[in-house]
Amino acid sequence: MSRTIIVSNRLPVTVLKKHQHIEYKTSEGGLATGLGSVYKQGSNRWIGWPGIYLEEESDQLQVAADLQADHMHPVFLSKTEIKEFYEGFSNETLWPTFHYFLQYAIYDQKMWETYRRVNQKFCNEVMKIAKPGDTIWIHDYQLLLLPQMLRENLPDSSIGFFQHIPFPSYEVFRLLPWREELLNGMLGADLLGFHTYDDARHFLSSVSRIVGYNNQQGLIDTGKRTVMVDAFPMGIDYDKYAEVAESEETLKREQTYRKAIHDQKIILSIDRLDYSKGIPQRLEAFELFLQQHPEFNEKVSLLMIVVPSRDQVGKYKELKEEVDELVGRINGTYGNMNWRPINYFYRSFPLESLSAFYRMADVGLVTPMRDGMNLVAKEYIASKTDQKGVLILSEMAGASRELSDAILINPNDQNQLVNALYKALTMPEEEQQFHMEQMQELVKRYNINHWVNLFMDRLSYIKIKQLSMS
Ligand code: UDP
Ligand code: G6P
Repeated sequence: MSRTIIVSNRLPVTVLKKHQHIEYKTSEGGLATGLGSVYKQGSNRWIGWPGIYLEEESDQLQVAADLQADHMHPVFLSKTEIKEFYEGFSNETLWPTFHYFLQYAIYDQKMWETYRRVNQKFCNEVMKIAKPGDTIWIHDYQLLLLPQMLRENLPDSSIGFFQHIPFPSYEVFRLLPWREELLNGMLGADLLGFHTYDDARHFLSSVSRIVGYNNQQGLIDTGKRTVMVDAFPMGIDYDKYAEVAESEETLKREQTYRKAIHDQKIILSIDRLDYSKGIPQRLEAFELFLQQHPEFNEKVSLLMIVVPSRDQVGKYKELKEEVDELVGRINGTYGNMNWRPINYFYRSFPLESLSAFYRMADVGLVTPMRDGMNLVAKEYIASKTDQKGVLILSEMAGASRELSDAILINPNDQNQLVNALYKALTMPEEEQQFHMEQMQELVKRYNINHWVNLFMDRLSYIKIKQLSMS
């Protein structure tokens, strides 16, 4: 049976070292949680960085052995590589550029060279494991050069690439000094997938204007191979979220949390601490809502889960301070002895707690300034087994292309957000259930298995088409 080798910068498991002991925890972020149930099937493998710098060889050996038992293979990064490849080029150059935060982007030749070197390092690791007939599936912006590097070593292999973050318009992408190398790196794949048609269209237009290859209905002829580009909106493991939402442990946690929050209505937001998620803008809109609707005093609270992320990167550190300050100010101004308008947690939670939060939330508030997809929005929907609850969703999230039954908002429009909150909090139950049902049907049908199968089918299709054309 053919194997799939998943390659991404972050493994679905992150290593922690506490008092000389190696520990493991589930990684956060849509890529890791979304594909978490896929890589364990058959003899599939997942190659990636375990999220920590390990100096001692004995630690590296232990981690490699532990992960191997669980279908994973670690790529260890040095301190410099973490700084220049991960924090640097990936998260200070590509991430802000691809999310349209151009003022945050740093262009640094040394970081670029480390990026290229680390992509080569990943290539070497894949070469240690890949066998003829394997399908290699590369994920995300940290590894844009890897498809072409692998192609040079494995000219006939099936290589898929999926980008989990937006692909910006040509006018933005062209600002990168290394734009042509990046596109050529990606074009080493046979199939390139994006969450939305706009992302795919932006990619095709950059390829045409920068590399000079035109496309016909998403097929690019590079002169050597035909490469296919298409949109594959990622789904979630629907049944898992629906089942956990009904589990004993989740219900127990819900009861405990409910005691603390009494009968207040709950507005829920869950994101990594990232400027692309629009956290300060959301807080400001909530403040305006409290100002304009004093009738909701003591009746509503914003439960805001913020998961620590990339905390060594300057812009993320600054954001943490800004969020802390805003939360303090709003709670200080509007709260009283009986009521805290914002319940803010800067930490991650286990699945059953997240599930309890999803269940309890009258409103799911998802307001990124830009987001490739946003799986939290879909998880909220899958967890609403009684179909009660309203989703407010930013137009700038890929998920908004599918979830037209949500209240869609522009995250820059504060008044619209205030009105959306009011509408959501006063929506009749029947109307809530109507919209929730529509969204559940869609999220259930286009689940993670559907996404994986569709991508793999398309990859097989393009490989056959290449043969018929050669
Ligand atoms: N998540 C998690 N632990 C937490 C909070 C969130 O594992 O404490 C997960 C959440 O369930 C979701 C993912 O992190 O699956 C976030 O994915 P999303 O696509 O919304 O955003 P990303 O972080 O990928 O930008
Ligand atoms: C987003 C990206 C992933 C990344 C995740 C967490 O989902 O698309 O590639 O793994 O964020 O970020 P981190 O930097 O911790 O891996």
